[in-house]
Amino acid sequence: MPSTQSSSSAAPTADAFPSDFAQDVLEGLTQSPKKLPSKYFYDERGDKLFQDIMHMPSYYLMNCEHDIFEAHKAAILEAIGYDAFQLLELGAGDGYKTKVLLEHFLEAKAAFQYQPIDISPNVLEELEQSLHKLWPQLDVQPLAGDYFEMLHRVSEETAVPKVVLCLGANIGNYPVERAQRFLNAISAELNSGDKLLIGFDLKKDPQVILDAYDDPEGITAVFNLNLLRRINRELDANFDLQAFRHWETYNPVTGATKSYIVSKAEQHVFIKALNRSFHFAAWEAMDVELSQKYSLEEVEGLAEATGFEVEQHFTDQKAYFVDSLWRVK
Ligand code: AVJ
Repeated sequence: MPSTQSSSSAAPTADAFPSDFAQDVLEGLTQSPKKLPSKYFYDERGDKLFQDIMHMPSYYLMNCEHDIFEAHKAAILEAIGYDAFQLLELGAGDGYKTKVLLEHFLEAKAAFQYQPIDISPNVLEELEQSLHKLWPQLDVQPLAGDYFEMLHRVSEETAVPKVVLCLGANIGNYPVERAQRFLNAISAELNSGDKLLIGFDLKKDPQVILDAYDDPEGITAVFNLNLLRRINRELDANFDLQAFRHWETYNPVTGATKSYIVSKAEQHVFIKALNRSFHFAAWEAMDVELSQKYSLEEVEGLAEATGFEVEQHFTDQKAYFVDSLWRVK
């Protein structure tokens, strides 16, 4: 999930072991088909490019979720139903959308403590400061670390009902089976009656989806190819960015939206940090990112299969996106 990545995570380390980044790149490039994990998109330049993506007219996801919160914030609080609760957010990021909810919850005088959970202490620090400036009265208790370890800790520390936010369609980066495992692990950490508000991007006109990930300005292409640039910089490699292209597909049956990086010619790339060269055939494609789309029925099936029941769907006017409120059974 993007907000959990810090740009320093793959910086050269003092120890003798290759970084996680180097190991993951090695593992990905020695598979067939070759793969590069999209979680490494988000170095400093990647973060900026992703900001640009979120502001493109064709990338509807972020605005939809923002609109959903503006339109339904009161209904969401009502559906949460608890007078006092612990509000946890997995992968908090800059809080752009969450702030809509937080502001309303404060105005409505809900009794809650907000605990953003993120792997990156820097992200949390910035978020905490900006929240403190906006609402000094808001009780913010950031937790830096692994989602499940942190959820576990909170469960042991408090008996107050928990409301977990998992926003932004980040779950879409997981294949369905892996999403299922993730959600099972969340319900296992929660108590019966605790709630999860989770964002899914919905199946819709395939052209709308393709345009979001294959924009006419080519920003997504630059964003994806930035991964090669990051490998060049951090792992001392010689990818020629001109010799690869971005390719996007949407399968309207499965809902899988996939991005590939395709080699335009036969070539070798040397990665010094791995002390290895990699061969690319002409038009060989690397698997880079999955952004899974769901129908409302599939969202309901996922909840059912993972220990939850759906309480309410909150969608935007076009029904492009859903924030679905689930309750642990
Ligand atoms: C941040 C994972 C929700 O899959 O829509 C946007 C990332 N990739 N454009 C998504 C992304 C290309 C985004 N998520």
